[in-house]
Amino acid sequence: MKEKMKAFIRKLTWTYNPATEREASDATARNFLLHWFPAKVTTKSASISYSLALGIIIMTEFTILTVTGLILMFLYVPSVERAYWSIKDLQFAVSYGWFIRDLHRLAAQLMVATVFLHMVRVFLTGAYKYSEKVVGSYRPLNWWIGLALLLSTMMLSYTGYLLPWDQLALWAITIGDNIALSAPVVGKLVSKLLIGGTIIDQNTLIRWYVAHVFFLPVILFLLIMWHMWRIRKDGGMAGVEALGIERVTQGKVVSKGKTYSLMGIVTGITPTITQYRVRGSSGSSSPYLTRRILAIFILVTAVTMGLTFLVKAPLEQPASLMWTPNPAKAPWYFLWLQELVADTTVRFGSFTISGGFVGGIVIPSLLLLLAVVWPLLDKSPDEAIGVWFHKARRLQNTVFLFICVVIVVLIYVGAVMRGPYWHIYMPWQSWPKMPTRL
Ligand code: HEM
Repeated sequence: MKEKMKAFIRKLTWTYNPATEREASDATARNFLLHWFPAKVTTKSASISYSLALGIIIMTEFTILTVTGLILMFLYVPSVERAYWSIKDLQFAVSYGWFIRDLHRLAAQLMVATVFLHMVRVFLTGAYKYSEKVVGSYRPLNWWIGLALLLSTMMLSYTGYLLPWDQLALWAITIGDNIALSAPVVGKLVSKLLIGGTIIDQNTLIRWYVAHVFFLPVILFLLIMWHMWRIRKDGGMAGVEALGIERVTQGKVVSKGKTYSLMGIVTGITPTITQYRVRGSSGSSSPYLTRRILAIFILVTAVTMGLTFLVKAPLEQPASLMWTPNPAKAPWYFLWLQELVADTTVRFGSFTISGGFVGGIVIPSLLLLLAVVWPLLDKSPDEAIGVWFHKARRLQNTVFLFICVVIVVLIYVGAVMRGPYWHIYMPWQSWPKMPTRL
């Protein structure tokens, strides 16, 4: 029995050193977990200097969030009377409750930041571009899936923000709701959908709780699976094109690639790098790539756990609609929007266009639209795919980085320099004393 169990675990995790390349490829194809990887990967796609391993870091944070989130579900009560006190219990009464909560909150912040950095890396390496060279590949699709992942990650984090039901949570959600309300025509409907009525109360809490613990994680999980599968379908990570590829068949198309069927719903062809002669070296995914992934996973988990001792999750006074904190701020990843809202109110005589509409809706929608159409507008050559700062993409990289820097500066201004009544205070200036709640 013990031997059988051992054999089963070995079959699932497969850690032995293969003697030949053939053995390594066979094992990858037969093993349940390793089947996720192609049999071979190029040295370039496995190199950390290319991807910065950001995708794996995101997945590690997502795993930490899932595990700690499941534990938190045993202790958190989604009711306006009890939510705040269940978090207090976690913080002060439950053994290691503070650790689980702080770890969950920190991993969420790190995940949002890493998803953003991963998007920046993908843009700067031109890894979203379409190339005719790899049969069956269409990289723009993975960029669009990525955008859906970015939005889902932000929503997952934002829905979690409300759950402690403290002042920080309630007023951050109020800011989001006010922005939704400033949308013409659909504003009221969107707000009603978001908060489940006209004020933030039990209806809002239960909506956001269900979205946070079920709908959004499931959506994110499915999108991640699709994202990974697309990388396989695209013939591996971008950069294969830049290395220069030739069909192994030398012009005669014998087989286009490996055929696949996903639960019989979709079928098609997956190009595999074995079908191509790639200039540049390649290696077997296992153990060549899998070991790196495992090492990054362990390192990121250890660092996040270590940071939990330094970064504490906040918990303010219980939520109250009767008392507005001054200033009230959105979570940091939405602060650039709050800052835009504050700066973009336009007045023509007695006519006013609200900043909520311009900064909260028009500008972010335009940015999102631009991100969606960008892969179709980028006409730089194939050599620029999968190459950091390629000279053919210099102008677009500069504009992209400029937008990123503006967003980061706005977040900094919102987080550090905005004080009571949303006035600017330099970091060395102290804020005037504001009345506190009794
Ligand atoms: C939950 C969020 C995400 C996860 C877990 C994830 C995961 C990954 C992983 C593991 C890779 C393999 C390479 C690497 O590690 O960098 C990858 C590649 C890629 N990701 Fe993501 N990603 C996410 C979000 C995004 C976003 C926001 C975008 C862009 C809008 C994006 C676009 C891409 C593209 C185009 C590739 C292929 C890159 C290449 O071929 O070099 N991903 N992603």
